[in-house]
Amino acid sequence: MNRAVGYQITERWHTYRRRPADLELWGSVTDAELTSLHAAAFGHAPTAVPWNERLTAHSLTWVTARAPEDRSLVGFVNVVGDGGAHAFLLDTMVRPDQQGRGIGRGLVRAAAREATLRGCHWLHADYEEAAAAFYEQGCGLVPTRAGLLRLRPDQPEPRPARDVTSRSRDQLET
Ligand SMILES: CC(C)(COP(=O)(O)OP(=O)(O)OC[C@H]1O[C@@H](n2cnc3c(N)ncnc32)[C@H](O)[C@@H]1OP(=O)(O)O)[C@@H](O)C(=O)NCCC(=O)NCCS
Repeated sequence: MNRAVGYQITERWHTYRRRPADLELWGSVTDAELTSLHAAAFGHAPTAVPWNERLTAHSLTWVTARAPEDRSLVGFVNVVGDGGAHAFLLDTMVRPDQQGRGIGRGLVRAAAREATLRGCHWLHADYEEAAAAFYEQGCGLVPTRAGLLRLRPDQPEPRPARDVTSRSRDQLET
């Protein structure tokens, strides 16, 4: 696969007086940075994960967001693909003190552009109610029915979404 490591993305941050982050496709990032961002964004204790090993083996692409002032990691999204028409967003996350500045939307836009260039037709995400406004109003995803099967008993039961059929109908009517 043709993989340009650390490819800088030009994002037009119209709405913001100062650009909130520098985005990079396949941006170089350490396992420790991702572990600490994940813990901060999802609110749990840091758990060591071999991020780079997984990204290299399984990702279609990923996007990093770094603060222009000090290059610290402020956001990340991973994109996995089926080798065909489908790409899936995973671990969309922005450091809590940087949320609400357009970084999450910039990450998803960059992921969508790259997935399109790589021949995908569809970009999927599954998310809980708390992230629905971000993905739907913020990033333009249309809610559809999707399901989640718990494969291990040590994982929490998935929380069912409220009725997505009526939600999408409401959205189409407004
Ligand atoms: C979800 C998350 C990635 C959003 O990133 P962000 O940088 O804060 O989002 P943005 O500033 O780019 O938001 C873009 C748009 O989404 C919508 N949006 C974002 N967060 C929202 C919220 N909490 N409530 C309502 N709308 C929201 C708004 O329309 C916003 O546009 P506006 O600023 O022009 O109003 C971030 O909040 C996060 O990391 N959360 C914790 C981890 C998580 O739950 N990730 C999702 C996993 S499925």
